[in-house]
Amino acid sequence: MSERLDLHGKHIVLGLTGGVACYKSAEFVRLLTKAGATVQVVMTEAAQAFITPVTMQALSGLPVVTSQWDAREPNNMAHINLSREADAIVVAPASADFMAKLVQGRADDVLSLLCLARPRAACPLLVAPAMNREMWSHPATQRNVTALEQDGAMILGPGVGDQACGEVGDGRMLEPAELLEDLIAFFQPKSLQWLRVLITAGPTFEPIDPVRGITNHSSGKMGFALARAAAEAGAQVTLIAGPVHLPTPRGVQRVDVMTAQQMLDAVLPLATSQDVFIATAAVADWRPATLSQHKIKKEGKKVAPTFELTENPDILAAVASLPKPPYCVGFAAESENLLEHARAKLLRKQIPLIIGNLGPSTFGRDDNALLVVDAQAHHALPADGAPTDKLTLARALMQEIATRRQASKP
Ligand code: CTP
Repeated sequence: MSERLDLHGKHIVLGLTGGVACYKSAEFVRLLTKAGATVQVVMTEAAQAFITPVTMQALSGLPVVTSQWDAREPNNMAHINLSREADAIVVAPASADFMAKLVQGRADDVLSLLCLARPRAACPLLVAPAMNREMWSHPATQRNVTALEQDGAMILGPGVGDQACGEVGDGRMLEPAELLEDLIAFFQPKSLQWLRVLITAGPTFEPIDPVRGITNHSSGKMGFALARAAAEAGAQVTLIAGPVHLPTPRGVQRVDVMTAQQMLDAVLPLATSQDVFIATAAVADWRPATLSQHKIKKEGKKVAPTFELTENPDILAAVASLPKPPYCVGFAAESENLLEHARAKLLRKQIPLIIGNLGPSTFGRDDNALLVVDAQAHHALPADGAPTDKLTLARALMQEIATRRQASKP
């Protein structure tokens, strides 16, 4: 599988201002270039007290701009040239002082100058604050944050946790991987803006006794990729996850459950207020009819125990049969006759769309090939049927779901 280059073709101006978090910006540059972006680093004088332009040049592969009087620019207008070439300016770390400067429209150093001179419609500004918690919570800083947002800037974070000063609280810069995820999301089309999307993911675990249970091989990766793609598309996403060890995508509200019944109990109260429901969970169809309070012991028993099973609720069918259901999308993991089985499930559960995939061979993998099936038609995703990474598939599916949902509205 080829590596996904989420920022391919993007040119990012990365501004560094004074703060210990400058060390994280070195790693951020590495991640940006790995994701396919070209990065032009611009540093204020204060930033150079924390990290050298030499390091940032080595990592970005481009000479760092530190002054508006940079004679390398033929027209001597670095602030105009840099901001016209950029797809976005990201200031990370952004100090409290620098944010105050942005709010006032001051321009006495090259970075604030180019933020002011940028063509706002074509070159968005993203700001990742980094400061002590008292500085962050100060009314002056909070006023500046509001003013920056009103002026169209996007604020990334800040995070909560240990601070360089030894205190703990709000104000630390987001981690490089978090900044990257937010920037990638920023560039994705907003086809689900303001919509509420509910997703189930992973397996369920049906206990036999306190130490044993019935489960399956679902890794949850497709559901988590869909949750990330929906959040990137601008939706408010709730992810009801069975027992999996996957990181929660940024901006996604996650609820962990174990059993099918718990999954149903988590889904139903939310379902009516959702715009879209996507059921990717591999819900166990049956559970032991009785749960043993204590571990079932082998000692002295010659015969293996037998278990009576009882059927679990069908979560997708339950949501689809609500009086005003959200737009429901199912998944069908099959080992053969994909189209036939997928369409039969679509009709049985009375849902408008189902996504088929050949189950066992894709469980746990990072790529997949899908079959998009409705009552009349079907098509492969991707069109050539070649396995593709699950996030790329999830993004394509989100576009498709957004269009179909819109078309299905009376
Ligand atoms: N599903 C569900 N609740 C269940 C079983 C399935 O919400 N108790 C959902 C799955 O999340 C998926 C779809 O229904 O979106 C199809 O699931 P699948 O396990 O493939 O089908 P089943 O309905 O269980 O049928 P079968 O086991 O016969 O293939």
